[in-house]
Amino acid sequence: PSLDAILNLHDFEAVAKLVMPDKAWAYYSSAADDEITLRENHAAYHRIWFRPRIMRDVTKVDFSTTIFGQKTSMPIYITATALGKLGHPDGELNLTRAAAKHGVVQMIPTLASCAFDEIVDAAQPGQPQWMQLYVNMDRNATRRVVQHAEKRGIKALFITVDAPQLGRREKDMRQKYDAEDPAEQARTGGDVDRTQGAARAISSFIDPGLCWKDLAWFKSITNMPLILKGVQCWEDALEAYDQKLAGVVLSNHGGRQLDFARSGIEILVEVVTKLKEKRGITFPNDKFLLFVDGGVRRATDVLKAVALGATAVGIGRPFLYSFSAYGTEGVEKALQILKDEFEMNMRLLGAPTLKDVVPSMVDASNVHSH
Ligand code: FNR
Repeated sequence: PSLDAILNLHDFEAVAKLVMPDKAWAYYSSAADDEITLRENHAAYHRIWFRPRIMRDVTKVDFSTTIFGQKTSMPIYITATALGKLGHPDGELNLTRAAAKHGVVQMIPTLASCAFDEIVDAAQPGQPQWMQLYVNMDRNATRRVVQHAEKRGIKALFITVDAPQLGRREKDMRQKYDAEDPAEQARTGGDVDRTQGAARAISSFIDPGLCWKDLAWFKSITNMPLILKGVQCWEDALEAYDQKLAGVVLSNHGGRQLDFARSGIEILVEVVTKLKEKRGITFPNDKFLLFVDGGVRRATDVLKAVALGATAVGIGRPFLYSFSAYGTEGVEKALQILKDEFEMNMRLLGAPTLKDVVPSMVDASNVHSH
């Protein structure tokens, strides 16, 4: 179907499923075990309802925001997803170009198909990019990667903490991984098991020994804001706050790690409540940022998270599907759809700016379904 026929982010998934090579579809769409968390990620948003306000001047609607001091056009970012070239020959560069056009942040994955410098070079001057880090057992390798990223102007470092080992993604495991990518070989030391799907093949260097005391070392090697990606309960969010990190991403890795992990939006409610109770902080604030990802497909999903205290929300698969089916133009269209949805739904909510999207605009009392 032509791009004109695409009306929402779900549509990209349906088209991608038809046109993508089986191996790529399996890697992008798969999640852990019985994929209960994958489904829950989106379903959890269906348990939150709006309490719109009326008679407010919504002639003009502004959904831009500031993250780590940098302006973005909307409170979403393109989160890190590995192996962009499985879906399209230009891989992650599709995301870089579309992010530039629409003024949103791209988080560059450690396991990008394109070389890190290629992705940074493809950005426009001043275009904000963040980096997602898988911590290598070889800390000198990690130090080089982190310091190089900072030198290249990366604005924040997201350390993935929900993957001490890769989850079991059976759809992906059924596809043998037979790609021979020299850049990837170099990164992983060439010592990979290619018989159990893409995920396992590329992740063998990740250090399962990573723990809280390692954060001091990260602070000693970089001045970038440090954010933990994959926090799943208030206790760990509180620890990150107490250790003076810049924020956390409440995420279960798109349902790809521990099945029966809760959705990011459900965790958000608990984190906001408990950190206020324990430390007296309120969200959003500029010191400790809460991000959420997983299952976000509509601006209404994002607005629920913003109302509950999130600074911004990460979106993964919809952009993979849009470039797999339509290249850069697909990602641009996906971002335009989100902008149109923000404009319409903020009007209907009675919120001319994101500051007007406040907790009393949602009813999240049933977000805990269990
Ligand atoms: C991911 N994700 C991910 N996260 C990370 O920290 N490092 C990585 O290399 C990857 N790779 C990756 C590949 C693919 C194909 C997917 C779908 C996801 C997780 C990602 O950052 C994010 O948490 C989820 O994708 C969010 O869920 P949605 O938007 O895909 O539902």
